[in-house]
Amino acid sequence: MPDTATTVGPAQMTIFDRLKADHDQHRLLLDKLDQTLGESGKPKLLFEEFAVEVKGHAASEEQALYASMMSKPSLTDKSRHSVSEHKDIEKLINEVAEADMATGGWLIKFRALKHKYLHHIDEEEEETFPAAAKLFSAEEEQTMRKTFDARKPKEKSKATVGGETKED
Ligand SMILES: [Fe+2]
Ligand SMILES: [Fe+2]
Repeated sequence: MPDTATTVGPAQMTIFDRLKADHDQHRLLLDKLDQTLGESGKPKLLFEEFAVEVKGHAASEEQALYASMMSKPSLTDKSRHSVSEHKDIEKLINEVAEADMATGGWLIKFRALKHKYLHHIDEEEEETFPAAAKLFSAEEEQTMRKTFDARKPKEKSKATVGGETKED
């Protein structure tokens, strides 16, 4: 995983570099979870880490990036699509959290979540971020990254592993 914090430097890091660094961490967590599925205890802890991390990431991503994208008419649809996928992903996370890990149903739900989440972050990186990057200045991209960094710890501390899906 490239360490963008050291290669780009924190002051110049854009929102897109910062979000991709999180996505890489999420891919690693999902791989680790898959590799420890037969072990007792570890998958549960890794899933809890994934749930809180991804909920905190998504909420901060909405505040830092998607709120700004909504103000650009050509990016409104892409922004709405991503936020609606965040709701679906949160619902899937809550369903996995509520399922019994000792049953086959858990694995089916986890695989559905993994598939949906990997598709979501691939789409963000390949389509959404490049489209947004064309319409924001380097300075705006750095300001959005600062907003993201300020929000992420707060959103993570509010996030729960399971629970009701938030309505807005
Ligand atoms: Fe997202
Ligand atoms: Fe993301």
